[in-house]
Amino acid sequence: MRKPFIIANWKMHKNIEESVAFINQIKAALPQVADEEVGIAAQAVALSSMKQTAQGTSLQIIAQNAASELAGPYTGEISARSLADAGASYVMLGHLERRRLFHEDNQIINQKVRSALTTGITPIICTDDKMVQAEVNGEIHYVFDQLKGVLKGVDPAHLQKIVLSYEPSWAVGSSQTANPKVAQQGCHRIRQTVANLYGSLLADQVRILYGGSVNPQNIGTIMAQPDVDGALIGRASLRPDDFLEMVNWQQ
Ligand code: G3P
Repeated sequence: MRKPFIIANWKMHKNIEESVAFINQIKAALPQVADEEVGIAAQAVALSSMKQTAQGTSLQIIAQNAASELAGPYTGEISARSLADAGASYVMLGHLERRRLFHEDNQIINQKVRSALTTGITPIICTDDKMVQAEVNGEIHYVFDQLKGVLKGVDPAHLQKIVLSYEPSWAVGSSQTANPKVAQQGCHRIRQTVANLYGSLLADQVRILYGGSVNPQNIGTIMAQPDVDGALIGRASLRPDDFLEMVNWQQ
């Protein structure tokens, strides 16, 4: 049984004060951790204040990126170890915007995944539609090679807790309506690829989230898809009422 995971990805939108105020507004209404996991991915500087504010709740504090190395002369980078110290239990790696705007490739993302795993912080590995659409166009090994690159050297024991996500670029930050069928298709292909790499038992356990134009109106139909285990929500997660409505998508 895969536990649903609803994540707000605030990107670079909220400062420390706004992040803390948001958590204060929603914390009494958060679900029990046994039913569903809920997390917020915020700017690194806000994480430790957010963790303190969320004390006593089930809210997961999530970093949006981490350095590929654990320590050393890397001016301006933030290590997974420091993010864990600040209170992050998860770190998003390889988000579409990291790939597109900061030229991260599979090799760098793989290094980041491996560094994060050594610190005990759990990676949420994002994949974009290039992986999935290429397969639609007939390059059947493309998805396999991409996930294989990102997961290179990752122990099957770690894969159990790693979270994967599928975010088609045309749906991220756009006015397109998220399409539940596309969400299902993309998450299903990723699960099939994990099955090819690690076997179907692990593929059945790994959680795969959908991201791209999710909002309070469409989250129910997206979450109803059999291979979609959660949502990564950008714009629609910025208002406490909307976020809580999506957290409570089952009601
Ligand atoms: O990580 C979630 C994000 O990329 C989707 O953004 O604004 O389309 O929900 P948005």
